[in-house]
Amino acid sequence: MHVPTPEDFRALTDWGLVERPFAAIDDYSAEREHRRTENDRHQRRRREQERNASAEFVADSQAYYRSMDRPIDRTKWSYLKRRKAWFQPPVGWNRFAAPGTSRVLDLGCGDGDQTQRVADFVAGQWLSAGYDGFPLEIVGVDLSESRVENARRHTRSPHEKITLRFETGDTVAGLDYGDDFFDHTLVMGLFEVLGDDPLEAVLDELARLTAQGIYVRDILDAYPGLTPRPDLSARLADRGFDTVERHKLFEEPFVATGTHDPLDVWPMNVHQVLFAAATDPPSPEDRY
Ligand SMILES: C[S@@+](CC[C@H](N)C(=O)[O-])C[C@H]1O[C@@H](n2cnc3c(N)ncnc32)[C@H](O)[C@@H]1O
Repeated sequence: MHVPTPEDFRALTDWGLVERPFAAIDDYSAEREHRRTENDRHQRRRREQERNASAEFVADSQAYYRSMDRPIDRTKWSYLKRRKAWFQPPVGWNRFAAPGTSRVLDLGCGDGDQTQRVADFVAGQWLSAGYDGFPLEIVGVDLSESRVENARRHTRSPHEKITLRFETGDTVAGLDYGDDFFDHTLVMGLFEVLGDDPLEAVLDELARLTAQGIYVRDILDAYPGLTPRPDLSARLADRGFDTVERHKLFEEPFVATGTHDPLDVWPMNVHQVLFAAATDPPSPEDRY
């Protein structure tokens, strides 16, 4: 990926996400998913992604992330923050801004660019509702120390009532927080990098830590080292979280041929995005 230019940023603006943050949901259809096969760029990028998969990542994603050393500059960070907004739309995020929410967890937060989007979204909701806001702590946890450092370096709280905190942690082994500590948890692109056994451990830990709601974005295309989980809603339901909204969407705006991806880096993968709510949430008195 080259350093994004002002033109690359302008191309993202053309995607219209400021006016329509959920544009990717309307853009997807099963018929278009089938038509991806006619898109030469998608096929070429797909083959490249398969070929270029790092052997260390495929062999052991946990060791790969743990030893990763990848500082990211602010231009790339800002670009990726906006680029990923297409396929990580704010489904259910209005709940994060509602009175009564005081702790949100971003599990596998990476460089914190999407955690920043969550904070910006909440501050925006408060502003348009005319609230002063409520004290809200957003915690990002990641296995990679290097990524946690990136997150600490680049994120900024957009509101005096919002605290952003980042720490290293291994969700497979378990995190040092009490049951139902967080009101809501986001899991963007973590399940897809885990094998079946670690995934089960992470789902158990997620359900233990979360009192009310879970947002997930995860890939639905198979790649070396990446496992699609189309049955994720059933696995969450087994743990007391019912899916209230679920969508399939593309990684970038659909085009029959050519590309809308300004950097021409990624294939037009398909992902699922869902929000699941606790069927029997604990009462606030039991939590605080
Ligand atoms: C595909 S990246 C997604 C990053 C970020 N959520 C985003 O949307 O940009 C997956 C992230 O999960 C983290 N991760 C992998 N295994 C983990 C574990 N056991 N505990 C915590 N984080 C983990 C990786 O370090 C990596 O940053």
